[in-house]
Amino acid sequence: MALNRLTLRNFRNIEAAELKFSSTGNIFVGQNGAGKTNLLESIYFLSLARSFRTSQLKKIIHSQTDYLQVVGCVKDTCTAVDSVLGIRKSVANTQIHINGETVKQSSRLAAYLPLQVIHPQGHQLLEQGPKLRRQFLDWGVFHVEPSFLSLWHDYAHTLKQRNAALRQGQAPRAIQLWDERVIEQGEKITDLRKAYLHKLQPHIRYYCLLLIGLDVDVEYRLGWLNEGGFAHALKKGLELDRQQGYTRMGPHRADLVFKNENTRVQDYFSRGQQKLLVCALRLAQIKQLKNETKRDPLILIDDLASELDEHHREKFIKTVFETGAQVFISTTDLDLLKLKSGSGCKVFHVERGEVTEMVHSGMQTEISQ
Ligand SMILES: Nc1ncnc2c1ncn2[C@@H]1O[C@H](COP(=O)(O)OP(=O)(O)O)[C@@H](O)[C@H]1O
Ligand SMILES: [Mg+2]
Repeated sequence: MALNRLTLRNFRNIEAAELKFSSTGNIFVGQNGAGKTNLLESIYFLSLARSFRTSQLKKIIHSQTDYLQVVGCVKDTCTAVDSVLGIRKSVANTQIHINGETVKQSSRLAAYLPLQVIHPQGHQLLEQGPKLRRQFLDWGVFHVEPSFLSLWHDYAHTLKQRNAALRQGQAPRAIQLWDERVIEQGEKITDLRKAYLHKLQPHIRYYCLLLIGLDVDVEYRLGWLNEGGFAHALKKGLELDRQQGYTRMGPHRADLVFKNENTRVQDYFSRGQQKLLVCALRLAQIKQLKNETKRDPLILIDDLASELDEHHREKFIKTVFETGAQVFISTTDLDLLKLKSGSGCKVFHVERGEVTEMVHSGMQTEISQ
């Protein structure tokens, strides 16, 4: 996939920008506070109608206006089909358009513009609770198997009804009426996740060896104790579920555990190694998506300097460009990237929310080998 053009109005400190991107690499360079991360965030927003920086979305609207607009022209590099995605957002509402049609579900955007973001807080994936790790896993399952999303919505809906019955203190038999559907949908979700993870594992191993020089294994934790399956766990846990007023077990509580030589990486890896592991995980997903669907997601890399030391930075950048995906990188120092002429990367200078393509990008920068 490639984002060929991006038009912004009132996105944080960027009042107006019209940008034409390279299909290989795009570098946003400028001082701290210039608006580089805002640019990456706007691309992320176009893909997910969310931000990777805040859950309070009204903050992304320019502080002196009451709406923002992001429009992007996207090419599916497999089918050569062009699409136009657009989001207009005010404090009160968000309107999403795909090829001129109004769309209700923001998840439709992601299918046109899959992306992976690597940012300085990336290691939170390992350190925080399981939600981020489930999101990581489900990103891959969704892009390989789009029906996963409706399956997930169905499961969440059934679970909500079961939880409501639990909260209302209904009799065990009334609660168990929901169990058949919870089990059926929950097991399907689990099977899809496990199948995806099975295919992802060799890529994770490959990129971990390449970037960290260590082997990493991933284990899937089901979200229930694995004796006798999900049905058994629900039945056994019913009384405690009734006391607590919610369903304590199921794929909504699943998790991933990353291990090196049987030790959890969180207890063992340095911060730098954890960051590299997260880079490796993202690269593995990109590779797996390409293998399954022939599609490349966009790769957004925020604040490269704070991520890695020189040796690992060079290795990582080289590996990123070798994926063939369209890359967007923000940095305060262009020299860190060691670009040479020839690869078709574009460089954009960002200063106080003004974005200008550098004349130098005519030099057709190339990534050094
Ligand atoms: N809603 C907003 N309206 C106007 N300016 C904003 C808004 N949100 C953030 N900013 C400004 O954006 C700038 C930070 O941009 P950012 O992309 O994070 O910088 P960097 O180039 O360091 O990545 C700050 O100057 C901040 O004041
Ligand atoms: Mg930044």
